Amino acid sequence: MAIRRATAADAEAIAAIHVAAYDETYRGIAPPEVFEGLNLERRTAQWRRFFAEPQPDAAAFVIDQDGEPVGFGSNGIDRRGPSPIGWIKAVYLLKRFQGRGLGLAMMATLADDLAAKGVREVRLDVAVGNDPAEAFYRRLGAGFLSAQVDPGPIWKSPTRTYGWTDAAVLAAAAGRADRHG
Ligand SMILES: CC(C)(COP(=O)(O)OP(=O)(O)OC[C@H]1O[C@@H](n2cnc3c(N)ncnc32)[C@H](O)[C@@H]1OP(=O)(O)O)[C@@H](O)C(=O)NCCC(=O)NCCS
Repeated sequence: MAIRRATAADAEAIAAIHVAAYDETYRGIAPPEVFEGLNLERRTAQWRRFFAEPQPDAAAFVIDQDGEPVGFGSNGIDRRGPSPIGWIKAVYLLKRFQGRGLGLAMMATLADDLAAKGVREVRLDVAVGNDPAEAFYRRLGAGFLSAQVDPGPIWKSPTRTYGWTDAAVLAAAAGRADRHG
């Protein structure tokens, strides 16, 4: 397993994982029209845009297993408030690669990257109904912050926001659990 910073050459592979893992995760949680809207064409366009028009502080990483991308993660920073807030935007692994510690390794990478950029507070949103992901974040020490409805482009999804007060502590928790798990 290797985690590396993603480049424009990864846009298609990330989009394919995004579509497949989203489907595996949210079938039965999201309404059916969501899957039509978030198809490969749309996801590919989204990821090409991500690399073509980089937002300041946004980063994406790919997990390779035997040289093939099997997951990705991304983060960003909101600098509008008095102190910057790091956001974990996505962590997606293909189902057959879940439960092997790769998610922890990606969380450690995303948190390390934010800490290196001077961020302490880290947050993420999880859709209500995605119980395995919520359990995974809670296990990493995430604290519940708020519940809301994400207006989203397609799906007005009820979400919960979780957070950590120190990116370095999250990185250590994910790294430590990975070594022992
Ligand atoms: C959520 C996700 C990123 C977790 O990554 P993963 O590689 O499957 O998880 P790991 O193998 O790293 O699990 C690490 C630890 O969390 C625990 N864990 C994993 N899934 C869990 C669950 N459903 N409930 C409780 N604990 C869980 C594992 O037991 C493991 O602990 P251990 O090392 O003590 O055994 C991954 O499963 C995934 O991509 N899911 C689909 C997409 C998704 O939901 N993304 C999040 C969107 S907000």
